[in-house]
Amino acid sequence: MHPDLTAIRTEYARAGLDESDLDPSPTRQIERWLREAIDAGHPEPTAMTLATATSGGEPSARVVLLKGVDARGLVFFTNYESAKGNDLAENPRACANLFWVLLERQIRVNGAVVKVTREESEAYFRSRPRESQLGAWASEQSGVLEGRAALEARLAAVRERFGDGEVVCPPHWGGFRVVPDRVELWQGRPSRLHDRLRYTRIDDQRWRVERLSP
Ligand SMILES: Cc1cc2nc3c(=O)[nH]c(=O)nc-3n(C[C@H](O)[C@H](O)[C@H](O)COP(=O)(O)O)c2cc1C
Repeated sequence: MHPDLTAIRTEYARAGLDESDLDPSPTRQIERWLREAIDAGHPEPTAMTLATATSGGEPSARVVLLKGVDARGLVFFTNYESAKGNDLAENPRACANLFWVLLERQIRVNGAVVKVTREESEAYFRSRPRESQLGAWASEQSGVLEGRAALEARLAAVRERFGDGEVVCPPHWGGFRVVPDRVELWQGRPSRLHDRLRYTRIDDQRWRVERLSP
C-alpha cells in the first residue's frame, strides 16, 4: 500500500521566535539553539545538511556532523578529495542546514568556506576513535569501490601499516569552516505562519536582522 503523503501534516505550536529573543551574534544564537536541542535529547543534534555546488552550478547535499561553532563560523571535518571537497575547491561557498524536528526549528547558514588550520584538523583527528582514524586512511571518500571486500582489504593494509603506532592525520583529511554571511532561524508556528528571522552581515561585528514571510 502506498502511503498517502498528502495526508501527512504536522501542526507546529511549540514556541514562537521574537526579534527580542535573538542574541546579537548569530553564531551565539546557533550555539544557544544547539544547546537546547542537545538538552532536549534530540537524536543527532549536530547533524547538518551541507549543500555545495560545482563551478558549473550542479548542486549536491549531504549530512555532515557539526564539530564546532564560534564567532568565526561552523566547522565540520571530511575528506578534502571527496565530492564535497572537490566542489569546495572550485566553488568555495556552501549552505548548511540544521533541522531539529522535536523543537520545530531549522537554521540555514550561507557563506564562504575555508579550510581550518592544519593544527585544528590534527587536534580533532587525535580525538577520534582509532577505528575512525584508520577509516580515514582506508577510504577514498566518494570514489567507486569494486565491492565491500575492496574496502575491507584497504582497511587491513592500513591497519598493518600503522601497527600499534599512532595513526596520524591524513593529508587529504581535515576541517572546513563555513563563514556565515547570512543566518536564518526558522521556528514552526500554527497554520504554516512560521517565524523566520534572518541575520545578514554588515561588517565584522554587526548584523542586520529582518523578518521574512513564512
Ligand atoms: C548522520 C551523518 C553524519 C555524517 N557525518 C559526516 C561527516 O562529519 N563528515 C563526512 O565527510 N561525512 C559524513 N557523513 C557522510 C556524508 O553524508 C556523505 O555520505 C560523505 O561525506 C560523502 O559525501 P560527498 O560524496 O558529497 O563528498 C555523515 C552521514 C550521516 C548520515
